[in-house]
Amino acid sequence: MIETVTELSRLRAIVAGWKREGLRVGFVPTMGNLHAGHYSLVKLVRQHADRVVSSVFVNPTQFGPNEDFTRYPRTPEADTSGLEKAGCDVLWLPTVESMYPFGVELAAKVHVPGVSSLLEGAHRPGHFDGVCTVVSRLFNQVSPDVAAFGRKDYQQLAVIRQMVTDLAFPIEVLGGEIVREDDGLAMSSRNQYLTGDVRPHATVIRSVLLSMRDASLAGVARDKVEADGVAQLQAAGFQVDYAVVRLPSLSEPVADHQGARVALVAAKLGNTRLIDNIEF
Ligand code: PAJ
Repeated sequence: MIETVTELSRLRAIVAGWKREGLRVGFVPTMGNLHAGHYSLVKLVRQHADRVVSSVFVNPTQFGPNEDFTRYPRTPEADTSGLEKAGCDVLWLPTVESMYPFGVELAAKVHVPGVSSLLEGAHRPGHFDGVCTVVSRLFNQVSPDVAAFGRKDYQQLAVIRQMVTDLAFPIEVLGGEIVREDDGLAMSSRNQYLTGDVRPHATVIRSVLLSMRDASLAGVARDKVEADGVAQLQAAGFQVDYAVVRLPSLSEPVADHQGARVALVAAKLGNTRLIDNIEF
C-alpha cells in the first residue's frame, strides 16, 4: 500500500526508519497529472533503490506570470493509484505554505548559472531558478540516495546535474528515456490542452526532430538544419521558440562537429507550449 504523507515530520520519520534498516531510498519529483512518462521514472528508480518516494507539487515559482500555473491539471486520485501500481511506497504532498514558509517572494533561491540561461531559460526567465529552488528543498526533505528525471526535459536534467555537483548533494541522478504516444508525441501533462483539431499537428515536432537529426548526421550545416526545422514547424502552424542542434552540454558545436549531439525544439501550437528533443 502506498502511504500519502502531508507532514514533513512524518516523511522524515519514514525515511529515517528505512535508512536505519540500511535501505536505499529513491525519489521521483513531479507536478502531478501523471502519465506513463512519470511512471517509467518510478520503475527506473525502483531498479536502483529499495524504497521509492514520489512527490506531487505544482511549484508556483517555476511558472511565469502569464503561464498555466492556475489551470495546470490536477488529478490526485488517479496519480495516487498510478504511483502505487508503478511501485511507489510514499507519496509526498507538500503544501505551498510548507514549501515556502516565509512566502514565495522572501524564499531563498537556488540559481545555477550558465546552462540555466540558455534555450528554456532564455524563453522562460526565472524558470530554472524555480525548478532548482524547489528540487533542492525536496532533496533536503526526502534525503534520497538516488533521484530520476526525464530526458524529455533535457535541459532541466542538465541543470539538476550541475546543481547536484555544485552543491554537493549526496544523490545519484538518473536520466529516464522519453516515453511517447503511439504517434510519436512525447507524453506531457500539457498535451491535454491540445483540442481535437490541433492534436494531429503536434506530431510534427517529432518528425521535424527526426529530419534535423538525419540532416545533421548527413553533414548539412547546422545553420541550415536549424532554419529548415523552424520553417517546417512554422508551416505546420507552430510559433517557434527554438529549433537547435547542440552538444550534449547544450553549448554550440563548432562547425562540422560530428560527435554526440542533441536537437531540441520548443514551439507553441495555439496556447500550448510543447518541448521535445532527440539525442544522436
Ligand atoms: P513534471 O513536468 O511533472 O515532470 C516530472 C518528471 O517527469 C520530470 O523529470 C520530467 O522530465 C519527467 N517526464 C515528463 N514527461 C516525460 C516523458 N514523456 N518521458 C519521460 N519522462 C518524462 O519536471 C517537472 O515536473 C518539474 O519541473 C519538477 C522537476 C517536478 C520540479 O517542480
